[in-house]
Amino acid sequence: MLALIVAVDDNFLIGNGNELPWYEPNDLKYFKQITLNKAVLMGYNTYLSIIKRLGRPLPRRINYVLTYEKKLPAGGIIVDNLDSLIASYQDSELFVIGGKSVYESLLPRVERLYLTRIKGIHEGNIYFPRINFNEFILLSTKTNDNLTFEVYERIKK
Ligand SMILES: NC(=O)c1ccc[n+]([C@@H]2O[C@H](COP(=O)([O-])OP(=O)(O)OC[C@H]3O[C@@H](n4cnc5c(N)ncnc54)[C@H](OP(=O)(O)O)[C@@H]3O)[C@@H](O)[C@H]2O)c1
Repeated sequence: MLALIVAVDDNFLIGNGNELPWYEPNDLKYFKQITLNKAVLMGYNTYLSIIKRLGRPLPRRINYVLTYEKKLPAGGIIVDNLDSLIASYQDSELFVIGGKSVYESLLPRVERLYLTRIKGIHEGNIYFPRINFNEFILLSTKTNDNLTFEVYERIKK
């Protein structure tokens, strides 16, 4: 199943240049808890920013990368057939983890959405695409200080 995880502020801001607009350790912990031992799928820029930050791909996760480059630094797996990759995750979650261009192209195919809302308006220039919340039902919501963790599932047609 294709899942998506993202953190947004009140304006659905997600990025500032190639960085996150905030430092929210509790969101990073949540991201780790949800994605650990799973497969994650990301764009080239997001992969490079992880390598820059950690010096390696996300540990204890399969790191799939969408890119037209022929080679990747350090251990990520280049996706050569996106449709068959998604089809191979029918019984477990494959997490779309960004960035903007990958969120935009895959949001219509996402069946589960892990949305962290970070209270306030932050500085930045990259926004999440518009979500039609009528297509989803809210499965759970949990608030911890300025963060609200929501999980949605796409309504089956
Ligand atoms: N708030 C959050 O939760 C969150 C999470 C992640 C990222 N972000 C933010 O998102 C921003 C980065 O977004 P971005 O759009 O620049 O980067 P991105 O989506 O990580 O990477 C874009 C690149 O991925 C490759 N790509 C994308 N779709 C592809 C496809 N279908 N097939 C093949 N290659 C594909 C292309 O690279 P090539 O042309 O090199 O092949 C494209 O230039 C940053 O500001 C970051 O902080 C926020």
